[in-house]
Amino acid sequence: MADTHNGVSVLSPEVRTATPEDAPTLARLLVEFNHEFDAQVDDIREVEGRLSRLLARRDFFAVLAGDPAIAFATVALRATAYNDSAVAALEDLYVAPQWRGMGVGSTLMEALGERARERGILAAEVFVDEPDAGALRFYQRHGFVHRDPSTGDRAFYLHHDLDSGTRLPHPERQFERSAARS
Ligand SMILES: CC(C)(COP(=O)(O)OP(=O)(O)OC[C@H]1O[C@@H](n2cnc3c(N)ncnc32)[C@H](O)[C@@H]1OP(=O)(O)O)[C@@H](O)C(=O)NCCC(=O)NCCS
Repeated sequence: MADTHNGVSVLSPEVRTATPEDAPTLARLLVEFNHEFDAQVDDIREVEGRLSRLLARRDFFAVLAGDPAIAFATVALRATAYNDSAVAALEDLYVAPQWRGMGVGSTLMEALGERARERGILAAEVFVDEPDAGALRFYQRHGFVHRDPSTGDRAFYLHHDLDSGTRLPHPERQFERSAARS
């Protein structure tokens, strides 16, 4: 599936929408992603069970690239009072390390855009931490802006843990934790 363009390897793997049967594959990639960044993640069996339930819902979807899969993205749809269609929140986007920088992430973004438009979704959002300059550049190249489109004001992501015992995996906090451990 590899090709060369101006001396750079380019991959165009098949992208497919995940079904509940893909939960084990998706769980494996999701856990690999979190381990790479030293982030806490539930046991793989728990992740697999959760994903198989989520993939059966209409307000969550995922795509996988390659066979065997080398990349994935997960998207949660949220309702908005401003439109009858949902907003797509891109939760995770991951390309296995050895396949990065070859266009796989871009292929996934295009596939996500197509699937979102098919569902009538008009807007998408993603959170990126400031030190993650590569990912920020990547998303900006794919049309994301960190400004309010109507005013041009800078937009910020604010996070509040409502239960100090059960935390959603906000990566920044996890990096702090793993730095404190080492
Ligand atoms: C970000 C990511 C999904 C991009 O996928 P990709 O297949 O490498 O992307 P493409 O080949 O289509 O485009 C390359 C661009 O991705 C970005 N990028 C971010 N991290 C990168 C990495 N480790 N290696 C290569 N490119 C990376 C860069 O902007 C690069 O463009 P550049 O030439 O301007 O530096 C992938 O690198 C990845 O999985 N990184 C780790 C996980 C992550 O950061 N996810 C996003 C935050 S949720």
